Amino acid sequence: MGNCQCTTKASDPRWQKLDEILAEWRDKPGNVIPVLHKAQELFGYLPREVQEYVAAGLGVPVTEVYGVVTFYSLFTMQPKGRHTISLCMGTACYVKGAQAILDALREQLGVGPGETTEDARFTFEVMRCMGACGLAPVLVVDEDIYGKVTPEGLAEILEKYE
Ligand code: FES
Repeated sequence: MGNCQCTTKASDPRWQKLDEILAEWRDKPGNVIPVLHKAQELFGYLPREVQEYVAAGLGVPVTEVYGVVTFYSLFTMQPKGRHTISLCMGTACYVKGAQAILDALREQLGVGPGETTEDARFTFEVMRCMGACGLAPVLVVDEDIYGKVTPEGLAEILEKYE
């Protein structure tokens, strides 16, 4: 690899742990998925650099690793925030103004759906009907469900999550 990041890797115990995992799994058949699982546990997500490292460590083409990561939804290439905000965009919620909530969230967080804020505080996602249509529009933050959410009420909800 051209851009050697040896110094950072040497001082980061996660890369050492990844080396151990690669050594342990290198000769086992069907090792790509379990190793990626463990790598995601370590790093929280699978940035390109980690995928390349895993490919080199297992002696498989990067394209194979990349194919697995993009195929399985349990793998993510995006860093996750400390909190996950999921906005329901199902029909009932949409009719009750979810689009306005989405716009307000985008403005307040500075990121759109599928993205994480720069301070890694929030990952913003949209979801389909989560079965609480009577509470539309619905917003879920981590395990907490908020119903009849308004753009004006968002700031108060968000400030509970540091
Ligand atoms: S449409 Fe949002 S909970 Fe059903």
